[in-house]
Amino acid sequence: MNRPRPLPNQMASESFQPLQGMSDIRAPEVYLWQHLESASRNVLERYGFDEIRTPVLEREALFTRAIGDTTDVVQKEMYNFEDRGRRKIALRPEGTASVMRVVASAGMELQDARLYYLGPMFRCERPQAGRKRQFHQLGAETIGEPNPAADAECIALQLQLLSAWGLSGAKLQINTRGTAEDRDAVAAGIRDSLGPVRGELCEDCQRRFDSNIMRILDCKNPNCRTLVDAVPPVTEYMSEGSRAYLAEVRDLLNLLDIDATLNPQLVRGLDYYVHTVWEITHSALGAQDALCGGGRYRFTFGKKGIEGVGFAMGLERVMMALEAAGVDPAERSPSTQVYVVTQHESAFRENLVLAQTLRLRGISCGIDLRGRKIKKQMQAADRAGARWVVIRGEAEMDEGTFLLKNMADGTQEALEMPELMERLATALSIRCAATDEDTQ
Ligand code: HAM
Repeated sequence: MNRPRPLPNQMASESFQPLQGMSDIRAPEVYLWQHLESASRNVLERYGFDEIRTPVLEREALFTRAIGDTTDVVQKEMYNFEDRGRRKIALRPEGTASVMRVVASAGMELQDARLYYLGPMFRCERPQAGRKRQFHQLGAETIGEPNPAADAECIALQLQLLSAWGLSGAKLQINTRGTAEDRDAVAAGIRDSLGPVRGELCEDCQRRFDSNIMRILDCKNPNCRTLVDAVPPVTEYMSEGSRAYLAEVRDLLNLLDIDATLNPQLVRGLDYYVHTVWEITHSALGAQDALCGGGRYRFTFGKKGIEGVGFAMGLERVMMALEAAGVDPAERSPSTQVYVVTQHESAFRENLVLAQTLRLRGISCGIDLRGRKIKKQMQAADRAGARWVVIRGEAEMDEGTFLLKNMADGTQEALEMPELMERLATALSIRCAATDEDTQ
């Protein structure tokens, strides 16, 4: 049987939904997002960071090389495709690689920059609570500064962000990946330790045994976890210098009064890390409990080596933790201060001008544009949370007045324009004295 063809512009109802693992962000939650964003900018500016905005689409090779082509992010999670010009491109799965691309292209000018970014990232993972396919990161990168103080400062900044958002109860875990020179010895040490039980590892880890053995250490499979518990801490295979680096970071964290638990199995899933790596977790998040992750890294672009230290925080997870802590997004919603009610259609045009005047003066103002009955308009004012209603009908127009109703106590009085402006200005603590134009 032939299916009826959809009419032009007709969409199936499933297309009203966003793609799986992606969300629309609407009021009132969007106001909590805005609060997180502005509180973050405030803190980041205090630490001397400038915002950077990079494209959402990049060459696929940027991520493959920077993150590592044997990582899960590149192998299993990246949204990559060919564009119409058959160029291989990818939706960014994270922000660090893009920032490094900018730093590499900018030359000396950004060699010791402090940059932060805030925006959507994309990973085609199996969606579950706290794991989305489009999610948002707030990330910060301190370029250059190859010393432990920069790592400690970065961690301190992250914790300040959490406290600016009103989030307590987060836990910090720290470890080291050592340097590139340590890698062979570390890999050999893990291989020696896990070689005899290789066959008992999960399928992914059997593959990682040859391709990226360090990643076995943070496999979530319960059986692998038990086997990994017997592996000596990776620092045992590292150079004295790498161990001293970690010790210095821990000492500085102590100095800054920051609790950090050493987790010798923390390796993080991106290959660009050297030296310090860390993660901040929160018990409200369940299985996906990492709020933020970060570390020191080194990139090579052509002959150019760039070092930095930074972190990224998953804002959806921060929202989940805030929600679990009882934060109500509606508390952040701005409410309409004044609602203009039109009692007779002949007053509408003047009321529209009044609403515009109030808005120009900085007062948030609602008005009914549909000519609804007065009862409906009052209900709309109530729903919008208006503190004041200005009512105008034929009688007020004849007298050149406005009826101002205080929604808290129900009192109302007829006022001329200058008094109306002054009353609202005082009540709303806004400078909005009437001008000559208002009284005409
Ligand atoms: P990452 O650990 O891959 O690190 O991601 C950082 C944070 O992004 C995670 O801790 C988590 O909160 C959030 N996140 C990751 N994937 C998802 C997802 N599918 N759904 C929801 N949230 C998610 C990085 O991306 C590094 N670039 C961090 C960094 C910056 N290291 C140094 N500089």
